[in-house]
Amino acid sequence: MSRRDVVRNGNSEFARAVVSGLSRRPRHIPCRFLYDRRGSELFEQICRLEEYYPTRTECALLARHAGEVAALIGKPPRLVEFGGCTPAKARYLFDAARPRAYLPVDICHEALTESVLQLARERPTLPVTPIHADFTRPFRLPAGDGPVLGFFPGSTIGNMQPAEAVRFLQRIRRLLGRDGALLVGVDLKKADERLFAAYNDASGVTSAFILNLIERINRELHGDFDPAGFAHSALYHAGRGKVEIYIISRREQIARAAGRSFRFHRGDAIHAEDSHKYSVGEFQSLARQAGLQPAAAWCDVDRLFSLHFLRPH
Ligand code: TRP
Repeated sequence: MSRRDVVRNGNSEFARAVVSGLSRRPRHIPCRFLYDRRGSELFEQICRLEEYYPTRTECALLARHAGEVAALIGKPPRLVEFGGCTPAKARYLFDAARPRAYLPVDICHEALTESVLQLARERPTLPVTPIHADFTRPFRLPAGDGPVLGFFPGSTIGNMQPAEAVRFLQRIRRLLGRDGALLVGVDLKKADERLFAAYNDASGVTSAFILNLIERINRELHGDFDPAGFAHSALYHAGRGKVEIYIISRREQIARAAGRSFRFHRGDAIHAEDSHKYSVGEFQSLARQAGLQPAAAWCDVDRLFSLHFLRPH
């Protein structure tokens, strides 16, 4: 297959998203395209940054409250993780909740395989059933025993628009059945400086992560974008309750990709991602709108991050 075929077939979804996303106003490319192999590596680095408090705070909450999660679910569950390509966080639940099986759901086939192999070595007695699916679209769980405990860490739910998050939770609720539950990690509203630092780290990893989208366009769509001609911008809008992440053109320029030309003025923005922040009450009301009842919510002492245990009504 020639490179052109790869562009036309394998990457056609990305090509369509880039062409339509850069042609519309405001410009927008869906955030799932940030996570190619390189993007996923950079994202893992973000999770280890001093400024990026969510990962370690959520892990500490899981370590502290896993026993309560186990008590709330009652029986050994089938643990279904949405986006579970790195089982690092699910591990906190393995010992406490003694799941009958672990079912990671992920869009990335390689990452799933890797995590299955890793768990086979570490936890040879835990049955692992990888589910290769885009969890933002409908999919089925294989039949099995035990209540379903859904697990959605990382405040990924904050990357959905609130209405989209409600629809997503409604669909998850149907997967849970009557005796299931959902454990979800949600980043809290807080002072601007803290949020600014988390999305504008001093070592520039976040910037590299966002600008990888430009490099991915060059790699996969015959692009000639100049990465140095763009910068990342991430600002917290307290009124909108979200961090908005953009790629900004640093100068007047024309760039080509996927057989098209795109013109940018200095300061023109491509919207790459929103990261919504919720108070505990706000998130609970979102969950209720989706037919999920808050049964417990845990926060760290600094009130940086929250963990919610929700049950179908
Ligand atoms: N779910 C993460 C969050 O909203 C994703 C994320 C972390 C992210 N850092 C980022 C997305 C930087 C874009 C840019 O916090």
